[in-house]
Amino acid sequence: MTSSAAGSPDQARPAPIAVVTGASSGIGEATAKTLAAQGFHVVVAARRGDRLQALAAEIGGTAVVVDVTDPDRVDALAAAVAALPGPVRVLVNNAGGARGLAPVAEADIEHWRWMWETNVLGTLRVTRALLSALIDSGDGLIVTVTSVAAFELYQGGAGYTSAKHAESALHGTLRRELLGKPVRFTEIAPGAVETEFSLVRFDGDRQRADAVYAEMTPLTAGDIAEVIGFVASRPAHVCLDRVVIRPRDQSPR
Ligand SMILES: NC(=O)c1ccc[n+]([C@@H]2O[C@H](COP(=O)([O-])OP(=O)(O)OC[C@H]3O[C@@H](n4cnc5c(N)ncnc54)[C@H](OP(=O)(O)O)[C@@H]3O)[C@@H](O)[C@H]2O)c1
Repeated sequence: MTSSAAGSPDQARPAPIAVVTGASSGIGEATAKTLAAQGFHVVVAARRGDRLQALAAEIGGTAVVVDVTDPDRVDALAAAVAALPGPVRVLVNNAGGARGLAPVAEADIEHWRWMWETNVLGTLRVTRALLSALIDSGDGLIVTVTSVAAFELYQGGAGYTSAKHAESALHGTLRRELLGKPVRFTEIAPGAVETEFSLVRFDGDRQRADAVYAEMTPLTAGDIAEVIGFVASRPAHVCLDRVVIRPRDQSPR
């Protein structure tokens, strides 16, 4: 254990649990590693089971194959978490992403549906499924990875920006609704991070994906994970409401 985020090691007490969605790549994978190094038992969730199994073996966590757009699979995730011995301290709502860059006049409804289902309703489903366990732990933390797209607009981005605005509104509203309960809320709003994000957005077109990061030094998934680890290691009364993280080379819009 490299930090005191999960408290001091105690043989008698099971490790606190952190659940990370979208942990099969990018920010989620890096965050799972960071939280595991801080002493959490990390439940890694996403659709690609082979990647999750390898990660869980590496960090001593638990892999659960989940499509956050499938209510039954989200219920199964909550059941798998409930079967573990420790208190559920942290949820990182990270599963998500973008599809396409079409202007509104040419919007692809299926792309929009994917972005809303995954970023917005996925976060709603997983948060609801784990909420009582997080509160019952006596010191819960919900981190939601939105984006600078949660408060900025750009041409061609409406499907993604509208979904991230909505995800941010969901997270911020719940923070207000649960005032007085033992749960903290942090929105992490990154700018450009080099992950599989652009590859997914451009349907596997590597050249187009690489062009996004060509004129800058982008953030890495580890840069974001480090901040989430810092958030998770604050004392119970300290709430970092929103952290905006951009590469030096990216200007606010
Ligand atoms: N990279 C950026 O520039 C950037 C900037 C701001 C915000 N973000 C946000 O950061 C988060 C993580 O993205 P990333 O950059 O790390 O991209 P990434 O490498 O593409 O990771 C996305 C993760 O989400 C998972 N996922 C996608 N759909 C899912 C579903 N239906 N059910 C369960 N898991 C699903 C993917 O796993 P499976 O495919 O295995 O399911 C993957 O693990 C996203 O919410 C993204 O919008 C990214």
